[in-house]
Amino acid sequence: MDEHGFETLALHAGQDPDPVTGAVVPPIHQVSTFKQDGVGGLRGGYEYSRSANPTRHALEECLEALEAGARGLAFASGLAAEDTLLRTVCSPGSHVVIPDDAYGGTYRLFAQVQQKWGVDWSAAQVSDVESVRAAIRPETAVVWVETPTNPLLNIADIAALAAVAHDAGALLVVDNTFASPYLQQPLRLGADVVVHSTTKYLGGHSDVVGGALVAADAEVGEWLAYHQNAMGAVAGPFDSWLVLRGIKTLGVRMDRHNDNAAAVVGMLTTHPAVSHVFYPGLTDHPNHDVAARQMRGFGGMVSFRVAAGEDAALKVVNRTELFTLAESLGGVESLIEHPGRMTHASAAGSPLEVPADLVRLSVGIETVGDLVADLEHALG
Ligand SMILES: Cc1ncc(COP(=O)(O)O)c(C=O)c1O
Repeated sequence: MDEHGFETLALHAGQDPDPVTGAVVPPIHQVSTFKQDGVGGLRGGYEYSRSANPTRHALEECLEALEAGARGLAFASGLAAEDTLLRTVCSPGSHVVIPDDAYGGTYRLFAQVQQKWGVDWSAAQVSDVESVRAAIRPETAVVWVETPTNPLLNIADIAALAAVAHDAGALLVVDNTFASPYLQQPLRLGADVVVHSTTKYLGGHSDVVGGALVAADAEVGEWLAYHQNAMGAVAGPFDSWLVLRGIKTLGVRMDRHNDNAAAVVGMLTTHPAVSHVFYPGLTDHPNHDVAARQMRGFGGMVSFRVAAGEDAALKVVNRTELFTLAESLGGVESLIEHPGRMTHASAAGSPLEVPADLVRLSVGIETVGDLVADLEHALG
């Protein structure tokens, strides 16, 4: 299957027609346990759904193929996947380098949860390879990056950071949620583990919360699978089915997200009420060249600063009609939010605090002229 193109894998990897009924879509195996033909006589290796479930397994095989990894695993949420990964590869005394611009919930997991259990962290600018290298300590087990970052759309050079992490004997973990495997495949660039909130572009329809890990190495994958079962934060059968259904159209959705975001960025960059636009597709983005090299397109996420300050930014997010004011991203419908008060409120007062005049857009796949007009109206 690996020799096929991305869209073919999205439709077929892990999704052979059901051998018993011929169902062309993997059925939802909404079941907790499986009959054994005599003690230990498992059918297809299935015993109990925390350990393995056929619908989840179909999703895991598909994720593994899309990220070109050795092992894919599906979780109840992106944060459940992150927590399982950290508790697998870190132990008390470990140190992790994290982005100085990351999803607020990821920051909270490091600063408020993992640190209590003896995993220390320091923040580095992931767009600056030397800043990451300087943050590494002898006990660094993981270099963790998002690229593009949430919400400032910074870009990390995955191949360069893989070399830096490996020189230090650490793993490079890439949160690939913003790009999706259609736009960027970190494992092919040297990363060791990819993290996803499948809630976002992979699911694609704002109707499911889920997470994933894909490991480049089978042994790391096996160790993660052991912890997935031991800790139990698995994706349920119906949620797995929804993510798998979303993945079928990932490529066509991402193409439209890219196109619509480019048009929105074109309007924002010339609008007098906007002081700065963050988008890796802009040629004056500081890491545009790296993004162009490692991504197939620049994605549907756009952030911008409102020249008149925080109150004006809050007015903009309240005034749009098509862009729905909500947290999350990556669905077919456009969303708008104020990161400082919403998704990144947990980073207030920390090195990861975001500008108060910042607005983040998840540009959907509606008719592009309607989206541009909605924003123009909201900006006044
Ligand atoms: C980049 C990124 N990583 C991880 C997460 C966490 O995922 P979840 O909300 O599915 O737990 C999010 C959620 O917004 C995110 O934006």
